[in-house]
Amino acid sequence: MTESSHDPLLVRALRREPVPRTPVWLMRQAGRYLPEYGVVRKRAGGFLGMAHDPELAAEVTLQPVRRFGVDGAVIFSDILLPLAAMGMELRFEEGRGPVLPQPLASGADVDALGGVDPTRDLAYVGESLRVTRAGLPDEVALIGFAGAPFTMAAYATSGGNPGAGAALRTLMYRDTAVYERLMQKLCVVLADHLRFQVQSGAQIVVLFDTWAGQLTAEDYRRYVAPWTGRVLESLGTPVPRLGFVRDGAHVTEQLVELGFEAIVADWRTPIGEVFDRFGHAVGIQGNLDPAVLLAEPDEVKRRARAILDEVGGRPGHVLSLGHGVLKQTHPDAVAAFVAAVHEAAASPS
Ligand code: CP3
Repeated sequence: MTESSHDPLLVRALRREPVPRTPVWLMRQAGRYLPEYGVVRKRAGGFLGMAHDPELAAEVTLQPVRRFGVDGAVIFSDILLPLAAMGMELRFEEGRGPVLPQPLASGADVDALGGVDPTRDLAYVGESLRVTRAGLPDEVALIGFAGAPFTMAAYATSGGNPGAGAALRTLMYRDTAVYERLMQKLCVVLADHLRFQVQSGAQIVVLFDTWAGQLTAEDYRRYVAPWTGRVLESLGTPVPRLGFVRDGAHVTEQLVELGFEAIVADWRTPIGEVFDRFGHAVGIQGNLDPAVLLAEPDEVKRRARAILDEVGGRPGHVLSLGHGVLKQTHPDAVAAFVAAVHEAAASPS
């Protein structure tokens, strides 16, 4: 038995090691579609109260693990919290999502952003990871995350909804030096935050670049890849790093070049094609369309099985969605999705 075979299934699969069955977890597996989440949220008085309280954050992190038996627990936090630590005002409004009432608008605003010592300013995230780990079975992987610099800049300049990205794109094209100062600052904060999460027990980290898929492959190469690369380089490879770009099939090749151990596959591309092109180089997570979880459980199971069949047991696969669970999703659909891998393992074709 090699040393790494003690690692959780999910960690091994992301590293493309052989595993006895396909692991499964879902982005946004904790959240408003779960009634037990609503109970804790009410008790905390809101999203931020919950994220800042390690006991409550651990509780909602563990809820989907207990209910569904997923192979990973993604720490309950948010990609925007480091912006608050840098001095930006941040609120989460019911039914509206995040609000940053004073978006960055000038070089002076960028220069006014503070540095972050995660052990002090984001200590609650570290504590949430420790409390979660204590309540988690050894075979379930603990997942940390951060926003990638471009997506963080998109929120910081837009006030809460990047939309078409006009604010950031104006800065990026017309005031490139200020854009670069902002990206530079974000890279330091994000790499430190990820390192702190690994030190606090994260066994996998996800870098979410939700908004970078809006760019052409050429602009991604010029304006985004160097900064994402800097975060990866600064973090090093203490744990597998999973890269996500929403609507990002056109930049997958660049994510592979940047050195991610694994990537999230866009759901519009058949996963077999993604494996044919990139399966020799990276782990591949995905790639059910999140909206398919609105279907009946039997249909969800059929679609999950179709993905498993298309991958055909090639190493490096993690069954998941192409993006997060929608809040209208019925928990039974998630249960059916998870059951698909257990049933496939019980009766291999
Ligand atoms: O299970 C998990 O994934 C829990 C941890 C988690 C949250 N946000 C909790 C959350 C994670 C990994 C995130 C990442 C995140 N946050 C991303 C990147 C991934 C993606 O979805 O593209 C982004 C872009 C954000 C920013 C953000 N936070 C938005 C746009 C919103 C509002 C929209 C929404 O889905 O509600 C949030 C709020 C938020 N973050 C909620 C949760 C559970 C809902 C808050 C609530 O309970 O009111």
